[in-house]
Order: sequence, then structure tokens, then C-alpha cells
Amino acid sequence: MLPCLALTLLLHHAAARSPVPVAGEVGRAVLLAADAGPGFQRRDVIWRWLATHEELVATYFRGSAETLYQSRFQGRSRLHANLSLEILRLELGDSGTFSALLVDALGRTETRALRLTVHEPVTEVTVEVFMPSRHWAGSGEPCEAFLSCTVASGTAVTYSWVRGAGQAPGTDSRVLGEAGQVLRVLLSPAERHVTYTCTVANAVSRATATSVLPWEHCRRTGLAEAACRYGEVLLFATPLLVLATAAAVLAATMACARRPGKPPATSANTEPAAA
Ligand SMILES: *[C@@H]1O[C@H](CO)[C@@H](O)[C@H](O)[C@H]1NC(C)=O
Repeated sequence: MLPCLALTLLLHHAAARSPVPVAGEVGRAVLLAADAGPGFQRRDVIWRWLATHEELVATYFRGSAETLYQSRFQGRSRLHANLSLEILRLELGDSGTFSALLVDALGRTETRALRLTVHEPVTEVTVEVFMPSRHWAGSGEPCEAFLSCTVASGTAVTYSWVRGAGQAPGTDSRVLGEAGQVLRVLLSPAERHVTYTCTVANAVSRATATSVLPWEHCRRTGLAEAACRYGEVLLFATPLLVLATAAAVLAATMACARRPGKPPATSANTEPAAA
């Protein structure tokens, strides 16, 4: 009977339908269901994993389940009475296509394929604000900011941005980066209280960052700019000031030397003679 099953397995290999996507999370279990078409009375099953190479994972034959095959899932798989295959303690490398060859009492077969993708869950979403311009004109002007969303972990993630209490980011914003992890915003002074937040999701999890208030950073840039200008002024003013002081001191000294009543030395010499 088994060689017969193997033959039908080969015959059905090419006839497999497009795989049903299934998402799993690292460390957790996933249930792979072997649903058959209407009227098909499943009796036996052969579960295989088709990834970098092919591995036999589990069989259910004449009422007895077998999962102790030399596969990467040995000791991590369970075959239920309804022929569903459960993989425990998922690893990223478990991603791949699982194929179930179902056999009914009359020897008819059906093939089911499921594409398992194992994900790391999303953790620690944070948003950082970058100010591209060091020359923000001031509180009355629009301010450009780049919001960058990052995650500590998570595979195959997508980023989404929300403005304020749940609106789309708006026409003045542009989503950048392949997955949309950067948002460029141009804020008018009327938008000084508008917050932005980033949500990161994948097939198994989602997490949202703490909201940011970009205007805060605009203001800070403005202040930094002001401080910088003051610094520049000091930097340029100090040598001038020193020169000016030196000149003033020199002038004062010379003026002192020529104080009224104390004429230049040449005439001073003649003064006693005149007296
Ligand atoms: C099959 O059996 C398992 C374990 O009892 C159960 O969790 C699952 O819902 C059943 N059905 C399918 C379609 O997997």
C-alpha cells in the first residue's frame, strides 16, 4: 500500500494547487489543516515539507499516526486525528511549503499545499524626528521634519502612519523608504499641536509607537539656530571687540600723553625756558 501511496504522491506533485498562506510566530505552534473537498472522506495522509529539500514530516495510515521521521520537525510535530499537522516551537527556518496528500477509503487522492511563513513578532516601535534644515526661519514659518520609525525586532514588517487622532498623514506629507518607514511632513504654524504616530505590523503581530509632536523639534531647531547665531555673533565680534578695545586703549594712552596742559615733549622742553 505504501509504494502505491508514494506513486500517487509523485503523480500529484505537479497537480498541487497554489499554496494556502499560513503565518506562524517564532517559538509558538501552528496548526496546518488538511481540508478536503466536499464528499471526500479522508482516511490517510502524508505530510511533507518542501523547502530547500524535501522532508517527510508525518503520516497517518490505517488509523495510526507517525511523526518520528528524521526531519527538522522531529519531536516538534503532532498529527491530530482530523489529520491536521501541528508544528510546535516554530523556528524562522521552518518557513516553506507543506504538502498533504490525502487518501480516501477508495484510494482516491487529493493534495493540499500550505505555505508557512514564520515571523518574529514586532517589538519596541519608536519614532525619531529629524530636522533636515538648520535654517528654520522661525515660529511663523512652515517647518519640515522627517519622522523615522524603527523596530527592535520583527520580520516582513509594514509601516503605517497616523496623524492626530487617526487621520491619514495628509497631502503635505510623503511616505519614503521601501516599506514606508520614513514620513516627511511639512507643518504650518497652525499645526503646532499635531501629533504623529507609527504602527508596525506583520502577519503575526502589530505594535504602535508613542506619538511624537514634530513642532517641538522645529521649535528646538529654531532655538538652537538662535543660539548658533548668537555664538556666531560672539565668534566674529570678539576679535573685533579686542581690536576695538586695544585701539581705544591706545587712543586713550596717546590722548593721555597729549593731555591739555601737557603739550608734546618738544614744546614742553621749551616751556621752562619761556617761564
Ligand atoms: C483538528 O484537531 C485539532 C486538535 O484537536 C483542532 O485544534 C482543530 O481545530 C481541528 N480541526 C482542524 C480543521 O484543524
